[in-house]
Amino acid sequence: MSILDALIETADDAIPITPVRSSQLNDFIAQQDGPTQAWIRANQFEAKPASTCLVSNANGELTRVLLGVSDRIDIWACAALPLALPDNNYCLDEHWPMECLTDVVLGWALGSYQFTRYKTAKRGPARLRIPDGADAVAIECQALGLELTRNLVNTPAQDMMPEHLAEAASELAEIFNADFTALVGHELLQHNYPTIHAVGRASDHPPQLLDLHWGDKAHPKLTLVGKGVCFDSGGLDLKPANAMRWMKKDMGGAAHVLGLANMIMSAGLPVRLRVLIPAVENAVSGNAFRPGDVLTSRSGKTIEIDNTDAEGRLVLCDALAEAVTEKPDLLIDMATLTGAARVAMGPDVPAIFASRRETGFDLLAPADACNDPVWPMPLHQPYKRWLHSDIADLVNSSTTPLGGAITAALFLQAFVPDELDWLHMDVMAFNNEPLPGRPRGGEAMGLRAFFAYLKARYTH
Ligand code: BES
Ligand code: ZN
Ligand code: ZN
Repeated sequence: MSILDALIETADDAIPITPVRSSQLNDFIAQQDGPTQAWIRANQFEAKPASTCLVSNANGELTRVLLGVSDRIDIWACAALPLALPDNNYCLDEHWPMECLTDVVLGWALGSYQFTRYKTAKRGPARLRIPDGADAVAIECQALGLELTRNLVNTPAQDMMPEHLAEAASELAEIFNADFTALVGHELLQHNYPTIHAVGRASDHPPQLLDLHWGDKAHPKLTLVGKGVCFDSGGLDLKPANAMRWMKKDMGGAAHVLGLANMIMSAGLPVRLRVLIPAVENAVSGNAFRPGDVLTSRSGKTIEIDNTDAEGRLVLCDALAEAVTEKPDLLIDMATLTGAARVAMGPDVPAIFASRRETGFDLLAPADACNDPVWPMPLHQPYKRWLHSDIADLVNSSTTPLGGAITAALFLQAFVPDELDWLHMDVMAFNNEPLPGRPRGGEAMGLRAFFAYLKARYTH
């Protein structure tokens, strides 16, 4: 089962969906036959965005769906329909603007998503015929990437431990003929990944560093790094219950880079791709790392542990230290790194930080165009003073409660050479409240924007 099952190539019996703007409702009604006019009025259809009016023939058979849309039709225009309309085949009628077809069809696929691993769905999605003029290839590669991210985040930690993330990455590698390796447990120490090992060693599920390579070595190197904390209990500085409740999603960064890698490989972008995922469980046991410990990271920098709950930056710093040795053309990391980013931006807008300001700003136009918001925050250098340690090169968490997303990003920046083009995304990876096409649960955020940006950067 995939969300692509909600899209079909042909259907003779497809019921047309007509977009209606509220500003044009009266004109629209005037163009209809008498009974239809009466029916629309009787239903008090006002063409509010996402509202529908089902129209039938004299036999009571559904013949048409009127859908309220806003002036700017976006990806979510039809996204509530697959699980709301009666279980039929549908098509977009001739009134839909050509330029929004690809997005609207992708939105339909996303709106058909249900996480059914542990519970049978009450119903399947209604199906949409892919119209001429929609880019079926772009829809398919994005839908599969976004679905992968959602599924990985939604899967509870018990079934999404480092070894399961490894399996997901290795399955992806197999599909696209990529090379995949993993360092497991003690191998991390042998190969000098001390911080990944320290964070993950208290778990019964040994820490891993997943490493995927794909594409022509002659192409520009693009490296993706994703935070793969399969469960974040907070470690010894244990999280309170309400903060721990959803921490199965703390591998959201890993889920995002795997989703993006899926898109990049299926679209065949001309890049030499590397994906690095430090996969750990931040657990508590006798050998857990402690507040006050000093870790020597892969880079040689020493880190005093102020709080074991600031573990994401610890696993990322060793992965970043490895990533930068190859001087990639572009380095992107994605992470559910701080609660502070959500305080600053709310849940829907991932924060991005860019070593080159232009790169961050260049993401904004594609983000806007595909309605997948991201927004830059500053790598404000003076706040580095809050990462000062008396006995080590850095502390892992600042003691001031202010600017937490920025200090976390500055911590990561300490492991990335200045000249490198580096983007960091601090992302929620989760919908706490459902929106059309975006059910409660794991969510891919900013990925369509990143994909559009990368497509433009590497194919033009
Ligand atoms: N995984 C959390 C961040 C998080 C919390 C993301 C809630 C999304 C929602 C991270 O490991 C963490 O615990 N960060 C701490 C850092 C603090 C100890 C400096 C935080 O944000 O409170
Ligand atoms: Zn934490
Ligand atoms: Zn975490």
